[in-house]
Amino acid sequence: MPQATFHFPRGFLWGCATAAHQVEGNNTNNNWWKWEQDGRTNGKAGLACDWWGGRWKEDFDRAAEAGQNAHRLSVEWSRIQPAPDRWDEDALERYRAMLRGLKERGMTPMVTLHHFTDPLWLGEMGGWETEAVVPLFEKFVRKTVEALKEYCTLWCTVNEPNIYTLIGYVDGAFPPGKHDLRLSLIVQANMARAHAAAYRAIHAIQPEARVGYALHFRPMVPARPWFPLDRLERNLHFNAINMAFPSAILSGVMRSPVGRVRLPEVKGTQDYFGLNYYAQDTVTFDLSKAGELFGRRYYPEGSDVSDTRMVANIPEGFFEALKWIVRNYPNLPVIVTENGIEDVSDRIRPRYLAQHVHQMWRAVNFNWPVKGYFHWSLVDNFEWERGWTQRFGLWALDVETQKRTKRPSADLYAEICKENGLSSEMVKKYCPEVFEKMFPG
Ligand code: FCB
Repeated sequence: MPQATFHFPRGFLWGCATAAHQVEGNNTNNNWWKWEQDGRTNGKAGLACDWWGGRWKEDFDRAAEAGQNAHRLSVEWSRIQPAPDRWDEDALERYRAMLRGLKERGMTPMVTLHHFTDPLWLGEMGGWETEAVVPLFEKFVRKTVEALKEYCTLWCTVNEPNIYTLIGYVDGAFPPGKHDLRLSLIVQANMARAHAAAYRAIHAIQPEARVGYALHFRPMVPARPWFPLDRLERNLHFNAINMAFPSAILSGVMRSPVGRVRLPEVKGTQDYFGLNYYAQDTVTFDLSKAGELFGRRYYPEGSDVSDTRMVANIPEGFFEALKWIVRNYPNLPVIVTENGIEDVSDRIRPRYLAQHVHQMWRAVNFNWPVKGYFHWSLVDNFEWERGWTQRFGLWALDVETQKRTKRPSADLYAEICKENGLSSEMVKKYCPEVFEKMFPG
């Protein structure tokens, strides 16, 4: 039986990603809290993982003991700035304590400044629909970065601006629940302006900072590669979902199938590429999908799909995503800011993890500058409109008792982190069903 270890470069970052509203609990001053009160979510965040009550300590202990040397978390704007004219120094002090907690455990912090939630007061002022948000966000970023810069040099301005706008302004399942393609482009353009303003502000405060954003990137393939309409639909959907932010950063013009916006100030505002990869879509022409540009995205028959079919285990799509990044941004460091699967019984997660780490290793072997990997997520947390119905954690959470229970994937990931690599023994132990595929012969 072949034996091998896929090693990663020294200094590779291994960690998990979390987001404030999903783990903190008792966030009652943002748009998601309101969305929950309005009955738009499957249950409420409530105490979530009780990080605001201090349980981040035990979760960071778990992560550190499991060999993780980094963690990506987000700060909650509505806590730091509860009203336009008020800062909460205690909230900033708590975030300082969390980051200090990471440092004390030998973990590198990465801080996301906007992860889906907006202060209620911002919504009342028009949210991201007007350019007025740009200086407001910049002010919040300056205040926060000044307060946290002692502990952090790795910043993520906004998380998945494409998903924020797609689900909030086209699909309607995220607040504000609108269905307006044109507005979705305006919102994404304002997010890009705010990102660029934040990029410059952070560098002015901290010259050594590395600043980027996290893109939810979906590789896509046409269902029938020989059929021009499938190829056309694949391109339309690929551009609609993925390309607004990348086009703005590459060229200073945001391009999407619904229009273009000139954004010269956005060009080049990225020190690393933050990749959130979950799965690859197959796209087919579908006359019944007028609202979706006559295309349908799906996972092919027989795919290795999660409990609610939201994520499919398609590791080769991860490789394609990394390839797309290095082709378009030669020499830009890449950080995998999210990757994971919802899987309450940990039936797929071990192979999902092993196979994705394997694809990332292939990329590293081409000398592609992949610098770190953040698994989504450390412990089960509040999954937005899907609430508690999806479980992404390496540790399971009993929401009532706050008790954490380790899933086998946590041990597999610990072995990967400690080895700084993935070995054939690990695959044999945790997911023997893919051994042959990964180690043929
Ligand atoms: C991403 C989000 C993250 C989490 C995962 C499952 O789109 O950034 O907060 O919900 O999906």
